[in-house]
Amino acid sequence: MLDDILSLFRKKARLVILGLDGAGKTTLVNYIKRGDPGTTFPTVGASFERIKVRNLLLEVWDIGGQRHLRKLWDQYVENADAVIFMIDAADRSRFQEAKEEFWRVVSLTKDIPLLVLANKADLPEAATVFEIADYLELSKLKSVTWQVMWVSALTGMGLRDAFAWIYERVTGKKLLKPMEIEGIVVIDPHGEIVFSHPKEYADRFGAFISAIDSFAKDSLKEIPSSVEMGEKRIIMVRRHRMTAAAVISRGSPETSVISMLVELIRAISTQEDERKIKNIIKAMEPEKY
Ligand code: GTP
Ligand code: MG
Repeated sequence: MLDDILSLFRKKARLVILGLDGAGKTTLVNYIKRGDPGTTFPTVGASFERIKVRNLLLEVWDIGGQRHLRKLWDQYVENADAVIFMIDAADRSRFQEAKEEFWRVVSLTKDIPLLVLANKADLPEAATVFEIADYLELSKLKSVTWQVMWVSALTGMGLRDAFAWIYERVTGKKLLKPMEIEGIVVIDPHGEIVFSHPKEYADRFGAFISAIDSFAKDSLKEIPSSVEMGEKRIIMVRRHRMTAAAVISRGSPETSVISMLVELIRAISTQEDERKIKNIIKAMEPEKY
């Protein structure tokens, strides 16, 4: 009864999830629907689920990505209010194929919100959102509202932010508080601070940062970690024996911070120039995550 009444106020929207076979689309739907990634089989045709986000009822079409099914995508995209394009971020051998399909989808979507999910971020070899955005040439997307996010349909990482983004774009209402970055540091394998943003951040929090580093060395493997500290949160990532940590205000999107820290370690360890490194941080400014 209450549900019937509520449904009068509930807005409906149609969300279509596309991407190559094996990208993780059905795993994502399972996780959102049941809180468990479950075991999946390749989707034959399309499968339908209803997912509630606050007062928004999403009618979700999860469509098979095998080559012979891709012609099916067109008719679903035509009536969609939002599209998710999912890519297996750990499978670089299929990036080219994914790129071709992505741009075909873009040509069909017109002006509806388009969310690119770089999935399987739990795998250490997963490409960062920066790498994916570069590869797909997302900066060429002019008219559509789009975003790229780092997620794991297996662990649930980033999925809340992904659906919040869809909600915000479809309803025009804000759901999440934007997150602010207070400071970022990168520590090399000798415990030296090799990067600090802003510059004086490492001086102010030097002792605190070495504490983070020894914690990271003892207990962090390739898995990102986040520690709450009152209203703030520290996000730590460890790669190539380096540690990167960001102190942020609580809010979203956290996974993009993780992706940014991974990219930062990569850029510093390959000695990219300073401008490139600045751009990595700049990309984190609100609305550009
Ligand atoms: P089609 O239905 O054929 O289009 O594929 P799909 O996109 O629905 O892929 P599906 O969800 O069936 O997942 C394919 C495989 O990837 C499964 O073995 C999943 O367990 C695995 N997988 C999905 N998401 C993740 C993830 O985030 N991390 C890891 N490590 N594996 C994942
Ligand atoms: Mg599937």
